Amino acid sequence: MAKSINEIVKKYRYQVRRSVRNYSIYVKKRIKSKNTDYNSLKLDSLAVNKLPYPVKWGELFDQSQISIEIGCGHGELLRHLASRNPDTLWLGFEVTKTYTLKTKKKLKDLDNAFVFKGDGYSNALNLTSEATLTKIYVLFPDPWHKKKHHKRRPLIEKWFRDIHSNLIDGGEIFFATDWMEYYDFVSKEFKKVEDIYNLEVGTYLPEEHGLIPTHYYLKWKEMGREFKYIRAIKIS
Ligand SMILES: C[S@@+](CC[C@H](N)C(=O)[O-])C[C@H]1O[C@@H](n2cnc3c(N)ncnc32)[C@H](O)[C@@H]1O
Repeated sequence: MAKSINEIVKKYRYQVRRSVRNYSIYVKKRIKSKNTDYNSLKLDSLAVNKLPYPVKWGELFDQSQISIEIGCGHGELLRHLASRNPDTLWLGFEVTKTYTLKTKKKLKDLDNAFVFKGDGYSNALNLTSEATLTKIYVLFPDPWHKKKHHKRRPLIEKWFRDIHSNLIDGGEIFFATDWMEYYDFVSKEFKKVEDIYNLEVGTYLPEEHGLIPTHYYLKWKEMGREFKYIRAIKIS
């Protein structure tokens, strides 16, 4: 016989509660056993979906600020940013297992940076809460070249509006690309949110923004491509 809606809701609620409880017990045990040695508290990079939403990062880590990199690739930028900004907790998101593991390796001696395998755009929204994010870096995201794939492009007005409340005042989204058609597309989307962000645009040179040349930057530089960036700073 088909289950009633109430039975399904009850079962689902129980499962969610149980996984949240198990996760908190696990985290508490790790913290207790290692006496807040956060270096050993390596959250499981490949199990981002098991984290309770939103994670209370402030209760787990000393850092009061959180910043994010979406699409870490080889992980060199996340490592650079985290080692130079120890007061910030850095979260990286990568969709491929190979790059997640590559990045994880690069972060292994840092206690303020973690990488998770999963979609960066939805996780940035779901894993953080209101006014907690300082910076979001999206460097050389896949441009989804084909017209029929344009609908998959994540850097759009809706996401900029959704993530706005999770940013602190003055918090920012930093985007760079080598693909000019994609730059024009993202630029048009950003222009739709000029009521809530100040925009700065220009030719992208990593060192001018305290960043380093990443794997893909170097690859495309060799091919003679030009680079552009957009910095969107939250205005309240
Ligand atoms: C062209 S590479 C750029 C990597 C790196 N940012 C760099 O500059 O070298 C794009 C990266 O984004 C990752 N990626 C694509 N879609 C993603 C998503 N929705 N969330 C997180 N990572 C994503 C890809 O797996 C790939 O590693």
